[in-house]
Amino acid sequence: MGEEDLRRNPFNPSKIHSWRGFISDAYDLLTLPAAVYFVLRSERLHPDYQLSAFAKLRLGWRMYWNARKVFTATSWRAHLAMAQKILSAPRATPGVVVECGCFRGGATANLSLVCEIAGRELIVYDSFEGLPPAAEGDPLANPAGEGFLAAALEQVRDHVARNGHVARCRFVKGFFSDTLPSHSEPIALMFLDVDYMASLHDCIQNLWPHLVEKGYVFIDEYVYTDYCALFYSEKYWRKYFDATPPGLIGAGSGAPLGAYYLGPFAGLGAADNPRSIAYTRKDLSGLWTYYPDEIAAEQGGDGAPTTPL
Ligand SMILES: C[S@@+](CC[C@H](N)C(=O)[O-])C[C@H]1O[C@@H](n2cnc3c(N)ncnc32)[C@H](O)[C@@H]1O
Repeated sequence: MGEEDLRRNPFNPSKIHSWRGFISDAYDLLTLPAAVYFVLRSERLHPDYQLSAFAKLRLGWRMYWNARKVFTATSWRAHLAMAQKILSAPRATPGVVVECGCFRGGATANLSLVCEIAGRELIVYDSFEGLPPAAEGDPLANPAGEGFLAAALEQVRDHVARNGHVARCRFVKGFFSDTLPSHSEPIALMFLDVDYMASLHDCIQNLWPHLVEKGYVFIDEYVYTDYCALFYSEKYWRKYFDATPPGLIGAGSGAPLGAYYLGPFAGLGAADNPRSIAYTRKDLSGLWTYYPDEIAAEQGGDGAPTTPL
């Protein structure tokens, strides 16, 4: 994606410059109170945080506004969804919040606002030099993409200082394969917006073992079903973690956050785009267990269902 493409990026409605952009902006703004109400309803948040309706609306507004101000490749609604999960865990639950892939720091600023409320550290991993060289065999990697989406650490820090709580953040510069093996803190939630399969693999390999029991993994590349398939791959989870796959909520079209996107791939603009996110939780399961022919073989039958539903 070039800068011009990003301006038209349907994932960030405020960057669409056309009548669709106008409708999109109006829709986004008019439905902001409803989005904040439904996503941050009190029963979803832990009582530790005691956020008033005004405080929630203010948080939602700041997220919306930050995503307009900072050149951001994800939707403020996606940031709001992560806010719900961070604020659903009691303050005493251990764990930092991790962001892998921050680009110019729009989502970082918004996550830092939530981390300030939750009293958590936000660790931000990025090369701050853009995408790495394409790894062999990675179908999503572009050999011409090296260095694309680069934003300097100073620029990101400045965006977060202006729009969030930079004191909550620790920035770690370098390619994931070099930096993530040194990660040691328990993780309450991680946001992986890393484009390439090889980068996702680095993140999962190094960070999944640090995820707390009910910790969350959010990903941005949810419109790519092959990418999402990592979270359903029995081979992957058996091979690297001797476990079954955790599944992914929102694979293909994103969690429902007030858009009308049916997929596949990118939307058309206005409200007809994903503007969402997908996630899993460490204790979830995405395992298919029903193999009627195997049951039949064990029982000596033909596998046809005997009882209609
Ligand atoms: C799509 S951008 C992130 C957008 C950002 N989350 C937002 O909401 O605006 C992808 C980022 O991932 C980083 N990245 C991807 N693979 C990486 C790797 N292997 N090591 C370090 N950084 C990587 C790039 O530098 C880039 O900043």
